[in-house]
Amino acid sequence: MELYDAINRRRDTRAEFTGAPIPDDVLTRVLSAAHAAPSVGMSQPWDFVLVRSRSTREAFHSHVASERDVFAASLSGERAETFNRIKIEGILESTLGIVVGYDPTRGGPAVLGRHAIADAGLYSAVLAIQNLWLAATAEGLGVGWVSFYREEFLSSLVGLPEQVRPIAWLCVGPVADLPDVPDLERFGWRHRSPLETVVHEERYSPR
Ligand SMILES: Cc1cc2nc3c(=O)[nH]c(=O)nc-3n(C[C@H](O)[C@H](O)[C@H](O)COP(=O)(O)O)c2cc1C
Repeated sequence: MELYDAINRRRDTRAEFTGAPIPDDVLTRVLSAAHAAPSVGMSQPWDFVLVRSRSTREAFHSHVASERDVFAASLSGERAETFNRIKIEGILESTLGIVVGYDPTRGGPAVLGRHAIADAGLYSAVLAIQNLWLAATAEGLGVGWVSFYREEFLSSLVGLPEQVRPIAWLCVGPVADLPDVPDLERFGWRHRSPLETVVHEERYSPR
């Protein structure tokens, strides 16, 4: 798949997982793509915990369901009704859960390029996720990012050490198809904005 095809075909996937196995070589290529991401000071501050266990996934699924309720309780009227129709995860339907950790201690105390901007480490870990997502798309796999969780819960569920922050649970696996339209657009939650609304010439211009 061409790079721009992968960028445009990539979709957050929830309902389309088939549960079919992921061949080992495919998984290795996808994880290698993640590990090839740029990182501040070459710190490579990411970890990937591969979760196949049904019981771990069930525990996470039930935690996410309760966090979904927390968010739903903050909504009213049309927002509540629209959210009610949206599936926000495919934890049990996907083949694999990947918990992505961010470790700010990776690379030692003097990370080149991070002295003034601590978040540069987090940016790096997120780039690994984007690489993973695009590589998975090119391999015909779906990826769904789940963020409806409390960090302490997920850390303890998969045994992350104190300094490693869980920044994503990714649902990964073969899919029946990748929808053309993002779910949030399809269900009327929110639409993508046109490019010209976010590009500024020379100085930021309020719209
Ligand atoms: C940091 C982050 C967290 C997200 N968390 C969730 C989530 O918890 N549940 C969900 O269904 N989608 C989640 N998404 C997916 C977005 O809803 C999705 O990317 C967006 O609607 C655009 O759709 P697309 O990725 O299919 O283009 C998340 C995406 C990102 C980048």
